[in-house]
Amino acid sequence: MDVFAPMDGLVKVDTTPTDMDLVNTVATLMQVRQTILPKRLMQPGPDPAQLRLILEAAASAPDHGQLLPWRFVTVPDAARATLAQVFGEALLERDPQATGDQVLQAQEKAYRSPFLTLVVVDAMRGDPEIDLHERIVSAGCAVQNVLLMATALGFGSALTSGKALKSTVLCRLFGLGPHEHALCFLSIGSVQSRKKARPRPVHDDFVSVLTVDPIATGSGRQPGENPAAR
Ligand SMILES: Cc1cc2nc3c(=O)[nH]c(=O)nc-3n(C[C@H](O)[C@H](O)[C@H](O)COP(=O)(O)O)c2cc1C
Repeated sequence: MDVFAPMDGLVKVDTTPTDMDLVNTVATLMQVRQTILPKRLMQPGPDPAQLRLILEAAASAPDHGQLLPWRFVTVPDAARATLAQVFGEALLERDPQATGDQVLQAQEKAYRSPFLTLVVVDAMRGDPEIDLHERIVSAGCAVQNVLLMATALGFGSALTSGKALKSTVLCRLFGLGPHEHALCFLSIGSVQSRKKARPRPVHDDFVSVLTVDPIATGSGRQPGENPAAR
């Protein structure tokens, strides 16, 4: 594919038959990505070189103001037991009546999936004028890049959330600053089993066209016409 930037700054993509290969590859990659929950992920996870490639994909995300408002905190095997303990404590923090079995169930989640990382967004880093919505959008784009690169390398992946993300014990364990939020966990590993892919929404489910009411907006005005005189 030829991509070039002429003087006007507009990047033009040369649409040759080869480009359609790229289009099809990208479309296929996006379509085959599906959530493979951590309990369905097994060893081997990505090796160090693959992991670097996967995580570096995040760097291509749009980032208004180049704030780098997100970061990933990976959980090595040596930290899984501590994370398990924190998952148990987080459950007891919000439900002191939780049973021993429920605590064990919460703890067990720390051991699933060969690769596990926490996605964190910072609400204040850099320019405080850039609000949290934009920062979370950037984080979402970074996460999707990571998921797609993992998919391209043949791995399964998943995002998981849960109430533990808001617990003080978890925020303390991951060293979150006062303006940081734990967005979700991201898991990667080999696919043990997969569910049938869910039906995707279609174009018209989420695309509409702005309809303009000339009277409400005043845009039907002739030059020099006073809208108040109508
Ligand atoms: C931020 C975020 C958190 C998620 N947390 C969970 C979760 O805790 N448990 C779960 O089963 N799925 C979770 N999901 C995955 C969604 O359920 C999944 O993406 C959705 O069902 C669509 O399926 P697909 O990813 O296969 O297209 C999460 C997704 C996002 C974006």
